[in-house]
Amino acid sequence: MRAIVHTETGDSSALQLVDRPIPTPGPGEIRVRVVVSGVNPTDWKNRRGATANSGEGGETVPNQDGSGIVDAIGDGVEEFAIGDRVWLSLAAYQRPASGTAQEFTVVPVGRAFALPGNASFDDGASIGIPALTAHRALTSFEGAPTRLEPGALSGSTILVAGGAGAVGNSAIQLAHWAGATVITTVSGDAKAALARSAGADHVVTYTEPDAAAQIRAIAPDGIDLVVEVAAGRNMELDHAVLATRGTVAIYANDGDRPFALEVRPNMVLNARYQFVLLYTMGAEAIRNGASAVNAAIEAGALRFGEDAGVPFHHFELEQAAAAHEAVEAGAVGKVLIHVAAAE
Ligand SMILES: NC(=O)c1ccc[n+]([C@@H]2O[C@H](COP(=O)([O-])OP(=O)(O)OC[C@H]3O[C@@H](n4cnc5c(N)ncnc54)[C@H](OP(=O)(O)O)[C@@H]3O)[C@@H](O)[C@H]2O)c1
Repeated sequence: MRAIVHTETGDSSALQLVDRPIPTPGPGEIRVRVVVSGVNPTDWKNRRGATANSGEGGETVPNQDGSGIVDAIGDGVEEFAIGDRVWLSLAAYQRPASGTAQEFTVVPVGRAFALPGNASFDDGASIGIPALTAHRALTSFEGAPTRLEPGALSGSTILVAGGAGAVGNSAIQLAHWAGATVITTVSGDAKAALARSAGADHVVTYTEPDAAAQIRAIAPDGIDLVVEVAAGRNMELDHAVLATRGTVAIYANDGDRPFALEVRPNMVLNARYQFVLLYTMGAEAIRNGASAVNAAIEAGALRFGEDAGVPFHHFELEQAAAAHEAVEAGAVGKVLIHVAAAE
């Protein structure tokens, strides 16, 4: 089968198109014929050596997210049948040869989820990391439900930093579905339009000096939950708008500013800071997230593509290096690699 691998960490030129044997699923595993491989920032970070993730024979197949069709079942698997449409996430986590940038991959059943009938394979490869991360962030405040559903966030005011990002987009859509008032920040007009397409109630340009005052004007009692992509850069803004007993859920430090908190002002607020990392959030949070995300998709409340504020950018498997470069350069939307025809 055709596969993209790298044997060294480094820039995108490390990615090579090779022939690999088709893997066989073991007990508790399924084999998926990959249709679309989704690229996330973690994939180029891993390629550059963020994790020690080398595979058999030193070959690492990149990309955690994807979609496809189950084509073989290991012993003891009852959750799936051959022919099922699925979306994948964490495919390559601690399994370097199992990334989705290849025609077939084998994953444990817990990393595959039924692809709702109203979702395309492009949608399926866009779900995993962004939506599961957003779900975890949105369920991290004191007394939060473990699984979102309509009404679960009614009465809450949520600030999503970076609403045109992939995680930000999912956070807006899921929070809106769950009944929250959603405010988001962006860097300019084009991204504001994408954030509105996702369903944000209010969009604020964070580069404006009075951004905090604008958010306070919308939410005089403060923000109950911030979903944060740039913890260091937005530390002061977040504190300025946080409600008493509010939570800041931090899933990235884009912009790379140091993050350092003052004790007293946060203590006065009874503030909570929750760090979020998909790789270590645990099987239960992933199961709950996947089931909520699928319910939102089936309800038409979580969508992907230009109309939903997350435009697709398509590449072929042999263009995997260009796809990684696009994500690394900050592509706006979802970068997808077409691996094989659906039929
Ligand atoms: N912890 C986890 O499990 C987890 C999961 C998924 C992703 N991540 C990480 O999260 C980051 C974003 O991932 P992604 O896939 O959503 O990337 P993305 O699609 O590139 O989105 C990032 C967004 O953040 C915005 N942004 C940057 N600085 C900002 C600031 N100071 N205030 C508000 N918005 C800001 C960017 O737009 P502007 O620069 O124009 O504002 C961009 O829209 C990456 O570092 C990724 O590795 C972590």
